[in-house]
Amino acid sequence: MSPALFDTHAHLHFPEFAGDLPAVLQRARSAGVRWMLTIGTSRESSRAAVALAEQEADVYAAVGIHPHDASDADDATFDELRRLAESSPRVVAVGEIGLDFFRNLSPREVQAEVFRRQLALARQVGKPALVHCRDAHAETLEILKAEGVRDVRGIMHCFSGDEAVARQCLDLGLLISLAGPITYPNARKLPAVVQMVPADCLVVETDCPFLPPQPYRGQRNEPAYLPITAARVAELKGVPVGELGSRMAANALALLGLPSPPPGT
Ligand code: NI
Repeated sequence: MSPALFDTHAHLHFPEFAGDLPAVLQRARSAGVRWMLTIGTSRESSRAAVALAEQEADVYAAVGIHPHDASDADDATFDELRRLAESSPRVVAVGEIGLDFFRNLSPREVQAEVFRRQLALARQVGKPALVHCRDAHAETLEILKAEGVRDVRGIMHCFSGDEAVARQCLDLGLLISLAGPITYPNARKLPAVVQMVPADCLVVETDCPFLPPQPYRGQRNEPAYLPITAARVAELKGVPVGELGSRMAANALALLGLPSPPPGT
């Protein structure tokens, strides 16, 4: 049985896919990727994500301001995110939001404030949060706790922490998402994280066009490569990829409030 996979974090509306998106989507479907979530990173990009999700039945959208773009967020930005989240049934989450203290493209205090405001927005619109965290685990966890993410729920996207961080995320009720780096030979802490996290708290993603799995490093990533990441996660868990892939898709569908397919379809 080929697994029915959910790519929980993609940027299909990015310019990297403008030239061949229909072919990219076709390859994803042929590879068993049955659902995709395209993620906004700015006001413009959130609009584009929603527009794409309104065209493609298997693509859903998330709206949010990436920590890199936090400096550009003003009141009008938050108003528009709210309008998009409330007016389009294709918007199933708020993201991606969080902290990036690796690149620091926006000042840290601004990142933190924009992150808090968007967690509040997620709570108000009743949709889960998709959290980006790079080199800022302690600060991210503190804000998630303070803003009551246990009620908002969400996904730690492209998880890059260790087992202790994963345990704290699980305590907050978050799902842990693995991306291409789990397939890299130098993925030091990640295999132990995968082995520790229960299967019903795991999801997978491409984060395309970024972070391709090992065989495609240096190239553009796309959802059709998701089975490589799913297979590595299943290998680490010691379960068949068909079984774990379906489990992970069901985890994502439940979190996002989407219907699960009847068994065997
Ligand atoms: Ni992303």
